[in-house]
Amino acid sequence: MLTDEGKKYAAEGSPEVQLFLAVPPEGFIAKDELQKKLDPSVFKIGCSQAGKNKWVDMGKQVSRKVQHVEDKVKDLLVRIQDGQTIDKDDINSLKARKLIVAQTWKGYSVRKGPNYASKRKKVATDLTRENLQRGDWKELEFKEYNFNAKGPLADAGHLHPLLKVKQQLKNIFLQMGFEEMPTNNFVESSFWNFDALFQPQQHPARDSHDTFFLEAPSTTRQLPEDYVELVKRVHESGGYGSRGYMYDWKREEANKNLLRTHTTAVSTRMLYALAKQPFAPKRYFSIDRVFRNESVDRTHLAEFHQIEGLVCDRGLTLGDLIGVLNDFFSRLGMSKLRFKPAYNPYTEPSMEIFSYHEGLKKWVEIGNSGMFRPEMLLPMGFPEDVRVIAWGLSLERPTMILYGIDNIRDLFGHKVDLSLIKRNPICRLGID
Ligand code: PHE
Repeated sequence: MLTDEGKKYAAEGSPEVQLFLAVPPEGFIAKDELQKKLDPSVFKIGCSQAGKNKWVDMGKQVSRKVQHVEDKVKDLLVRIQDGQTIDKDDINSLKARKLIVAQTWKGYSVRKGPNYASKRKKVATDLTRENLQRGDWKELEFKEYNFNAKGPLADAGHLHPLLKVKQQLKNIFLQMGFEEMPTNNFVESSFWNFDALFQPQQHPARDSHDTFFLEAPSTTRQLPEDYVELVKRVHESGGYGSRGYMYDWKREEANKNLLRTHTTAVSTRMLYALAKQPFAPKRYFSIDRVFRNESVDRTHLAEFHQIEGLVCDRGLTLGDLIGVLNDFFSRLGMSKLRFKPAYNPYTEPSMEIFSYHEGLKKWVEIGNSGMFRPEMLLPMGFPEDVRVIAWGLSLERPTMILYGIDNIRDLFGHKVDLSLIKRNPICRLGID
């Protein structure tokens, strides 16, 4: 596009040509004479351009050096005005003299395509009963299937990962012939949670730093008195080949209500009830919530779910426990197990269970197990040769491993992101 200056020169000729033509036919003129004949800016630019082109000699007197000049600048400007193209060097020199500026112009050309129609046609998306009745389906044009379109999200409920893994574990227990224990009592007495398990009253786990005690009702209403008497005796002076703990057992301590710290409290109640019947072997399991007064971090909450299994039969040995554990955990996809001696007040021997984690390439602790002590089983009234093998583990641990969650607060509690529950896979491989 021409600038104002460019337009002027296109009409009147370039300053250098105007200056050249102002020199009279004799071929020379005094410089101040010439200046008077021309517009000041034309004179100024004309002098320098005509000098550069070697058309004139500049001194006090201006004289022509050539006979004839062509106004190339004017020609170029006129051609641009007419929409013709000129070559790059000319464009650059005109640009440098600010006679033209670049202008971008966007144009669209619209033509009729092969599917051009003067009216928009609505394509059919459904074949309706009416289409069939009227017979107009013959003429209908149907919309093509878009196989890449995503379907609408199903507006359905979603199971929490813990519930899914819990169900898978339930199935494993049921396949192995275990019956589920009733775990619908979060509040338990210290007696069933600790004393009946031969856990001494001074044991650190019974401290309020580890256990939530209830303010109201703070004590239990009733306990089976005859059995309480036997438990007290075994704590104080032993029996059944044991020396006991040799301390003064206090009923008030046993009466204290708490939030159960393990589901082994339920197992104990169940075993007590079982011992009252004529003996029959049993396999029991439970998966439910337990509570511990712990400080919360990436892997610990004050409540979690415990998975517990037990087998009660005559003459069971540690070998049976190892066998059942191998069977159980291999069904969870963990077939490399190791056991480490451990201590629980209510089991002897006791073993921590480790599984080789293929992903982490190391052994990780996955549970705790043991054979319930005679000091626990014999006061209940079991025949002497009855043994109970049992184990416990958390539900959160395997769930976190399976779902790749590394902070327990992302799995359970008020900080859980609901979309985690909506988005997680409906089933997992590696656990059956
Ligand atoms: N009650 C144990 C715990 O809280 C688990 C366990 C259950 C250990 C049964 C031995 C036998 O860790």
